[in-house]
Amino acid sequence: MITSVKEILIKAKEGGYAVGAFNTVNLETTQGIVRAAKELHSPIIIQVSEKTLEYAGLRGIFNLIKNEAEFYASEIPIGIHLDHGHSFEIVQRVVTAGFTSVMYDGSRKNFSDNIEITKKVVDFCHERGVSVQGELGNVPYLSEHKMMDVDWDKYMTDPLEAKQFVDGTGIDALAVAVGNAHGFFREREIPDWDRLEKIREIVDVPLIMHGASDWEDGKASEAVKKGISCFNIDTNTRMAFVNALSNIFHNDKDPGFDMRDILGQAREAVKDSVKKKILLFGSNDKI
Ligand code: G3H
Ligand code: 13P
Ligand code: ZN
Repeated sequence: MITSVKEILIKAKEGGYAVGAFNTVNLETTQGIVRAAKELHSPIIIQVSEKTLEYAGLRGIFNLIKNEAEFYASEIPIGIHLDHGHSFEIVQRVVTAGFTSVMYDGSRKNFSDNIEITKKVVDFCHERGVSVQGELGNVPYLSEHKMMDVDWDKYMTDPLEAKQFVDGTGIDALAVAVGNAHGFFREREIPDWDRLEKIREIVDVPLIMHGASDWEDGKASEAVKKGISCFNIDTNTRMAFVNALSNIFHNDKDPGFDMRDILGQAREAVKDSVKKKILLFGSNDKI
């Protein structure tokens, strides 16, 4: 059986390690992620964005992930999750299709609208046994900022508001903004560790770090110590996949026409990149 994301996150929180939530877009990426987790005996969360639902089709991608996950479900805990749902309607659609965990991202709304809609999502989801992640503060997309400097103060999660947000909505997990950003290269130079610790102290639910592709050794383990239970990874996996293809096509050797050989190498590259993250987060051998 597919494991509930809520259960995976609570175990990580109680066990003092973090799990990875990895975005997928297709069969090869999904297999690379699941196989990495299986080899390292790690719980794992596989997630899709709205853009991927549009690209692959909601039922198509959900059934593909479910099929892969069920194949390994007796060996490792695997959760399936909607990443960054931006409306109540998309949540309704994915829950109807069978998702058992969603993120409702109201982080660009004002505080009271974010509470109101997130609570509506929670009421709908909890009635159906589906867990919900909310976001407060805002994890920026550096692609939107080009390479300009970011005014980090505008994005940070306020600890007291976080408590109010969690209590007022009933969410099961909270995405925090403490200097993390989506995409590579321009995070806040030093994360606001005090802020993270304060949030951890007064908020009960597992905390999620989005934009974690470029959180390497010291930074990631410090974040786990200070209370992060899950890192969201997308860019790193995409780069592993695309770089593998690029190397194949820019090599002197003729790659031939068998997509299984070509995509198989990209799948291997995804697996290797996910394994590195699992070891970094410490979720290996936690099943
Ligand atoms: O955090 C967002 C993810 O990286 C999803 O990106 O909307 O391009 O699929 P996407
Ligand atoms: P990165 O693309 O920076 O890894 O962020 C992933 C993410 O936060 C998905 O929700
Ligand atoms: Zn994100």
